[in-house]
Amino acid sequence: MPERAARLNNLPVYFFAVIAQKIQALQVQGIDVVSLDIGSPDLPPPRAVIDALSHSAYEANVHGYSGYRGIPAFRRAVAHYYEKRFGVSLDPEKEVLPLLGSKEGIVNLSLAYLDRGDLALVPDISYPSYSMGARLAGGDVCWIPLSQETHFLPDVLTVPDSVADQAKLLWVNYPNNPTGATAEPDFYQTVIDWSIKHDILLASDNPYVDVTYDGYKATSVLEIKDAKKCAIEFMSFSKTFNMGGWRLGAAVGNADVIKTLLQVKSNVDSGHFRPIYDAGIEAIETTPQSWIDDRNDIYQHRRDRILETLPKIGLQAQKPKGSLYIWARVEDGNGDKYVKQALEQAHVAFAPGSAYGPGGEPYIRISLGISNERLEIALRRLKDWYPNRKEIN
Ligand SMILES: Cc1ncc(COP(=O)(O)O)c(C=O)c1O
Repeated sequence: MPERAARLNNLPVYFFAVIAQKIQALQVQGIDVVSLDIGSPDLPPPRAVIDALSHSAYEANVHGYSGYRGIPAFRRAVAHYYEKRFGVSLDPEKEVLPLLGSKEGIVNLSLAYLDRGDLALVPDISYPSYSMGARLAGGDVCWIPLSQETHFLPDVLTVPDSVADQAKLLWVNYPNNPTGATAEPDFYQTVIDWSIKHDILLASDNPYVDVTYDGYKATSVLEIKDAKKCAIEFMSFSKTFNMGGWRLGAAVGNADVIKTLLQVKSNVDSGHFRPIYDAGIEAIETTPQSWIDDRNDIYQHRRDRILETLPKIGLQAQKPKGSLYIWARVEDGNGDKYVKQALEQAHVAFAPGSAYGPGGEPYIRISLGISNERLEIALRRLKDWYPNRKEIN
């Protein structure tokens, strides 16, 4: 076979694929593994969404291509959601672009803006597709450090002007995967003003905006003054409506950026299956806030059960107000070792913090996307295991 492309040398195999292989190897031996690693909602979407999918799928005229920009009714529904939820007005024709899940848009945005050697500013501890997308495009990553003391918010004002003036893209994501941190309007205002000053495209990845606890309400970057001058936001149906497998999201905001992203996308994919758009419209237009609140209460209960247990299993964490995760610091500062031991000895899978950037090494990420019953099994196993854990190399 010919040699594979050199760009793959900078691109490790996606770490969840590696963990999945290890879990499978244990399962082949008949071992039951509880997965607290992957951030996939375990509960179904609203019933009306599934009905909308199946009704639409029976229609005769929905099986062809539905257009590179999706169907107008879907774009209007996304604009309506932004109006209703954030008071943000969007032009459905120019400021909304449907995506095959937000991950697709995240990577395609890097392809759209980064040439070889161009710089993306990525928080050191972040969703891997920001840095991987930049590398896939041939760009370079400049990590912005995060710390618990600064609530896992990047301080852009500490980035030297020489670096900022060279950078083309900046990623933010609140409520955050993996840290669970949240951001307030004054944070966004600082980042927007700074991005405009340095001519940087601000990408706000916001799939957890409706996954929040204790009555907290998260912000869209587009609510903030001047946001549309420099920013786009990625919204997703995966976590808001428990539709991870449906692969539905949208990019919204700055019209030039949306147009540029479409130029890449239209050469890569041909849009979604029409019934998925119809189901997405149903999700946005008819899901009552009480459905979202009830679902969040379930995650909140799991969050609290895990937080109660952490001191008994060598972990320490702050209480997240949003996202699907607990970001826990390991007693001896070696997250990779903890994950390996817990998987091999307690048969519980976590995501290692190091998968989210070099700054994540002392941490592990615990997902709330697991049934209460399986979670209790995991917590019991971990409490039995931790005091008796065996050292590994
Ligand atoms: C921060 C973040 N961005 C994007 C995604 C991708 O979401 P989607 O399912 O919309 O592709 C995820 C998925 O877990 C995520 O955690």
